Amino acid sequence: MRAVVMERFGGPEVLAVRELPDPVPEPGQVLVAVECAGITFVETQVRAGRGPAGKRSEPGPRVLGNGVGGEVVAVGSSADRELLGTTVVTTTGGTGGYAELAVARACDAIPVPEGVPLQDAVALLADGRTAVLLHRRAQVGPGEWVLVEAAGGGVGSLLVQLAAGSGAKVIGAARGSAKRELVTSLGAVAYVDYARAGWERTVVEITEGAGVDVLFDGVGGRIGTCGLSAVRAGGRVSIYGMASGEWTRPNGQVTVIADDGAPSPSEIRALAEEALAQAAAGRLRPVIGQTYRLAEAAEAHRAIEARATTGKTVLVP
Ligand SMILES: NC(=O)c1ccc[n+]([C@@H]2O[C@H](COP(=O)([O-])OP(=O)(O)OC[C@H]3O[C@@H](n4cnc5c(N)ncnc54)[C@H](OP(=O)(O)O)[C@@H]3O)[C@@H](O)[C@H]2O)c1
Repeated sequence: MRAVVMERFGGPEVLAVRELPDPVPEPGQVLVAVECAGITFVETQVRAGRGPAGKRSEPGPRVLGNGVGGEVVAVGSSADRELLGTTVVTTTGGTGGYAELAVARACDAIPVPEGVPLQDAVALLADGRTAVLLHRRAQVGPGEWVLVEAAGGGVGSLLVQLAAGSGAKVIGAARGSAKRELVTSLGAVAYVDYARAGWERTVVEITEGAGVDVLFDGVGGRIGTCGLSAVRAGGRVSIYGMASGEWTRPNGQVTVIADDGAPSPSEIRALAEEALAQAAAGRLRPVIGQTYRLAEAAEAHRAIEARATTGKTVLVP
């Protein structure tokens, strides 16, 4: 099979298509013929050696990619044979997704619900379960002001919809004016360009001086700090990522929403199923911003790092 191999830590150029032996499912595993693989922002950080584990993890070679969709073409012993021929989305357990074939635990494979396009299902797998979990933990209520950073991105575009669906007044923030239309089409009542100095004051003005009740911060750094200053005293802050490279440091005026530790594999599956069910019901619409072929994986990583993408980026082998 063809797969995108990360040869070592480095720039996007360390991603190259190679011929590898076809993986064989072990007991309890399935083999998926990948029609679509998700790329997450954090994989660009992992590739660069700046991921959550830094350079402590094995430097390479390895195949990145934690979420795929496609038909189950083989099952290992003791795996559910009913899955053969089923179109599923599944986590790969961390690696192996940027490939024509991927193995996964049979218990992680989720049949794609009727009416949900496969690319949408792949887009919802990681970003959807993350957004559902963050939204649930934040307990967003009707009428609350909610500020979502990176609102045109994968997780952000889903958080905008989930918060708006709870009856909140969502302010989406992102860089530049080009994402305004997308973010407001997802249900945000206002859009703020955080490349403009003083954007956080604009957010407070929109709330008529009150400040927002909830902040979803997946960016950190200067943007996270400015976002924090737009939260009312006693407001809630969900700090879930550091796309800028630095975590936001809370200021003591707000309640940081506890992350309660990593969910178990069965909870992770249930969260993804919840996101897919919401999509099937028409309440959640993933934004497939751009698709790339396997051979273009480096280009996809470059575009994400250049902040030139919207919504989800997927690979189509
Ligand atoms: N996907 C998941 O399942 C998951 C799980 C846990 C945590 N997270 C975290 O959630 C955050 C969003 O993840 P995502 O996968 O949905 O990515 P994404 O939003 O599709 O891409 C990252 C976004 O961050 C913004 N950004 C701000 N400063 C940036 C910088 N210095 N460099 C690059 N981008 C910057 C960009 O939007 P603008 O250019 O508009 O600012 C970009 O759209 C990340 O911090 C990620 O680590 C994601």
